[in-house]
Amino acid sequence: MNPASAPPGDAGLAMPVTDEALASRMTERMQVVERALARHVRSRAPFVTDAASHLMEAGGKRFRPLLVLLAAEAGTHPDADEVITAACVVELTHLASLYHDDVMDEALLRRGAESANARWDNHVAILTGDFLFSKSSELTAELGADAVRIQATTFTRLVEGQIQETVKPGADDDPLEHYLDVIAGKTGALIATSARYGARFGGCTREVEEALTEYGAIVGTAFQLSDDILDIASDSVESGKTPGTDLREGVPTLPVLMALASARPEDSRLVQLLDCDLNDDARHAEALTLLRRHPAMDEARAYVVSRAQEAKALLAALPDGPVRTALENFADVVATRSA
Ligand code: FPP
Ligand code: MG
Repeated sequence: MNPASAPPGDAGLAMPVTDEALASRMTERMQVVERALARHVRSRAPFVTDAASHLMEAGGKRFRPLLVLLAAEAGTHPDADEVITAACVVELTHLASLYHDDVMDEALLRRGAESANARWDNHVAILTGDFLFSKSSELTAELGADAVRIQATTFTRLVEGQIQETVKPGADDDPLEHYLDVIAGKTGALIATSARYGARFGGCTREVEEALTEYGAIVGTAFQLSDDILDIASDSVESGKTPGTDLREGVPTLPVLMALASARPEDSRLVQLLDCDLNDDARHAEALTLLRRHPAMDEARAYVVSRAQEAKALLAALPDGPVRTALENFADVVATRSA
């Protein structure tokens, strides 16, 4: 198992919670979520159970369910069963999307393990993604009609974001705005919903629910921006994924957009490469090396930190205390994560 992505049950919480009592409560609650997830990926067909548990058992940060649990702590009844159910809903939806995403990216690695498309084939990976999404929908139905509507809207945003990524921005569109819109959909929407579900089922006021949802949307965007920076900066041992996938796929992410926007005379080779098909291994390796040492990497990191500050400012709607501190730290860690 990739140590960077060991499940919380084995390696503590994905995000630091400095208050001891809250940390131990979150660890216990995450173990409940973990056991529930193991039950929810079971199918009456043993092969489907194997395929559906493959990525879950490979690890993962469980970032979304932890956010559900933490947001619920700001409410009057964080122990509600619905909070655990909602935590499972968001993780299963996320897991489903990873099976599909790895098919689209032709990825070989995920969470330090073979991707499902590499381990089996595209058909198995796509149908397993569908199975997990159906399981998540079954569970959402237990949360009531409003939750189903929220889940449906979230799914729409997720798919729209993913499709938009494959459509290049038009001649009149600002490429950075296009990219930020893509990630707000494909990643921000589900993380915003994680915070909303936690707040709602934990019994937060409407005002706190809205603030946490907005916080989740921004933290989710920051999470994807960090992921995109790591796609360039880290090796597969750290990330458990194949580095440079976005470049190979021709998806221009924040460091690339920033490098292109501020290209210097010495960047002519990089600019030329970024305009090529980077499926060629030698060109891909060269572009990755040039980008890794380009100042746009630090510029991109600084932008992510500024988004985390924005998210933290929204937490003024919560009273001071360990929950707010944990959510503040959560935003900081997302912005500066290395795996
Ligand atoms: C990861 O992006 C992908 C997503 C965050 C969402 C992908 C959504 C779909 C494929 C459609 C949804 C389908 C279902 C069944 C829910 P990335 O490739 O930038 O990140 P990575 O580095 O983790 O691969
Ligand atoms: Mg991918």
